Amino acid sequence: MSGRTVLSDEGPKPPENKVQAPDIQAPDRPRRAFYGRQAGRPLRPGARALLETLLPRIAIELPLPGTTLDIGALFGAANAAQERPVWLEIGFGAGEHLAWQAERQRGAGLIGAEIFIQGMARMLRRVEDAGLQNVRLYRGDARDLLAALPLAALSRVFILFPDPWPKKRHHKRRIVGRDTLDCLAGAMRDGAELRLATDDMDYAAWMLACLTAHPAFECLARSPTDWRTRPDDWPPTRYEAKALAQGRRPIYLSFTRRPRAA
Ligand SMILES: C[S@@+](CC[C@H](N)C(=O)[O-])C[C@H]1O[C@@H](n2cnc3c(N)ncnc32)[C@H](O)[C@@H]1O
Repeated sequence: MSGRTVLSDEGPKPPENKVQAPDIQAPDRPRRAFYGRQAGRPLRPGARALLETLLPRIAIELPLPGTTLDIGALFGAANAAQERPVWLEIGFGAGEHLAWQAERQRGAGLIGAEIFIQGMARMLRRVEDAGLQNVRLYRGDARDLLAALPLAALSRVFILFPDPWPKKRHHKRRIVGRDTLDCLAGAMRDGAELRLATDDMDYAAWMLACLTAHPAFECLARSPTDWRTRPDDWPPTRYEAKALAQGRRPIYLSFTRRPRAA
């Protein structure tokens, strides 16, 4: 029986030993092409339990089309006056950076967006183990979340080791591009920081070109040493470790959102 879809009065049920990847297409929104992996091997029971019990408590639901996410409500009463800075990590992978920041920045609200269900399960484990109360997670295409963010809501954004899509014909799949930067320019506060990292030098040049061409962002690096050195308040991630082990030296970029014209 296991491994086959089971039909019952409630309709089709997923096979016992597998978790079906929920449809990541956000309802009533323009259909986007997504090319990365959404799910890998079957999840262990502990991971499934976290997805079924913890994720619904801290998951971000997109608002109705045409409206924006209520960031104040997202983090509850502690954020009633919207005093809590809100940080976003796009594509947090296994969540080591997001959890590290959440543990040290208890006064900030941390939003993580990730589409890969195994990554989401690992992050949930970190949230539970460290008792993190200041994390909210969006499982789906981060671009849908970005489109729903209100103006000037974010104080810091991280895009660390995004998929490089090295083939030229795949460059349009890269998450760093004009559309994403336009959304971030709207969603970030004046003076907010955008941090990016990559171990792919072609993508590094692409990031620099996209960001320096965008009127809303200003590069914070003053010399090559700045982008060769990971700041102390920026922990290593799994992909960084992989790159270093394979002899690739990552680039760390920081930009600020320029003040809006008065
Ligand atoms: C190369 S991994 C890097 C993971 C992590 N940031 C790190 O440094 O270890 C890129 C991650 O971004 C996620 N991702 C790619 N496109 C995404 C999207 N549009 N929305 C949400 N997550 C995305 C992938 O599922 C993957 O986990």
